[in-house]
Amino acid sequence: PGIVVLISGSGTNLQALIDAVKDGRIPGCIRAVISNRPGVAGLDRAARAGIHHEVINHRDHGDREAFDAALMTGIDAHAPDLVVLAGFMRVLTPDFVGHYAGRLINIHPSLLPAYRGLHTHERALKDGVEGHGCSVHFVNTELDGGPVIIQARVPVLRDDTPDILAARVQQQEHRVYPQVVRWFCQGRLTLADGQVRLDEKTL
Ligand code: GRF
Repeated sequence: PGIVVLISGSGTNLQALIDAVKDGRIPGCIRAVISNRPGVAGLDRAARAGIHHEVINHRDHGDREAFDAALMTGIDAHAPDLVVLAGFMRVLTPDFVGHYAGRLINIHPSLLPAYRGLHTHERALKDGVEGHGCSVHFVNTELDGGPVIIQARVPVLRDDTPDILAARVQQQEHRVYPQVVRWFCQGRLTLADGQVRLDEKTL
């Protein structure tokens, strides 16, 4: 299966996916990496791996609809089976989400439905929660509200800062995201009537 990865930044999740394709854990191919921001480290990671990469800058487009239309054209040029949001920091229009229904996934740094949106680590620390983590979910029109595929939990420790907690969560992100993409590429993971289905039988 073909994969397109959308990024906005450092691309450590992208790197985890690149590594998993390389060592055979993901039986698929990353056909392109697209960033809405120029000059980000994730683009260098794609370049180093020899993966086609491009910038589709939201600032070059008048509004959200125009940007999303350009993004769809850019993505569809690679005819992907799966579109992976990996630190892609743009809210997507219903048209976009509908176009990729069932083949668009995101990773979010919280145990959804807790802490949708931004600054999840700061908010979790402020609330004094004992556990925090990350979620991988299919994307629907509700922001960070799509059906959850997998979550990983980490403890929140007494001296945690947002950065320390974020690093602990990211270790888990780099473990679970390749796992989910592996399932999808194996044909085991689907979205049916808005419900996640993971077929345990097939290998
Ligand atoms: C990750 O923490 C992800 O959960 C969030 O943005 C961050 C992206 O990091 N949505 P990276 O670009 O993959 O390093």
